[in-house]
Amino acid sequence: MRRLSPAGRKALLTAHLVTSLGWLGADLTLLALGVAGLRGADPDVVYPAAGLLVTWLFAPLSVAVWLVGTVSALLTPWGLLRWRWVLVKFVLTTVMLGLVLLLLTPRIRHLGALAGAADAHLRVDLVVAPAVSTTLLLIATVLSTHKPWGRIRRAPVRPGGPPASRRGGRPAPGGRPGPGGTRSRAAAPAR
Ligand code: HEM
Repeated sequence: MRRLSPAGRKALLTAHLVTSLGWLGADLTLLALGVAGLRGADPDVVYPAAGLLVTWLFAPLSVAVWLVGTVSALLTPWGLLRWRWVLVKFVLTTVMLGLVLLLLTPRIRHLGALAGAADAHLRVDLVVAPAVSTTLLLIATVLSTHKPWGRIRRAPVRPGGPPASRRGGRPAPGGRPGPGGTRSRAAAPAR
């Protein structure tokens, strides 16, 4: 797979952060609308707003996050199947994408169309679904910053070969954990 220039990698990481954390923000807004609806806010305002939000922001962002995240893994030394934290995020995001497109979006659009005529069951859905997805997105964010669990397969150690920290097996002191980051090691602050 072709490697990116440092500028290309920074641009891709920026796109990844904007889309994924934007997705989290849209999710929190859906949750706020759901809670407002249950607390007696005007259903003819709250539920059509949730329908618009899910159609024009939440669902498109879920596709964008999956695409940009997958490309970020494939075009950087992280790879899609090399590090457990990347693979777990990929599986989590893929499951969420399916649920968002097949279940959540049609249900919230239906709720938006019914507005004041929506039953209690549908109204509770607009609290439970965003609460669950927000929790999953927070887990994905923590996985991204902590990068736990190491590699899926280690490269065989050759006698006299480089130490693990040079092979990307362990964090280099003062640098980003794992494959060459967007900051140079010399410029990275000591942690
Ligand atoms: C298809 C799903 C995803 C894949 C394959 C993926 C993969 C990656 C990869 C490879 C990086 C490192 C990029 C680099 O160093 O240039 C990264 C960074 C990051 N990802 Fe994801 N990601 C996915 C979804 C998500 C989601 C859903 C979130 C949060 C809502 C998220 C949050 C982050 C954050 C905050 C970073 C920056 C970590 C850092 O620079 O220390 N990602 N992701």
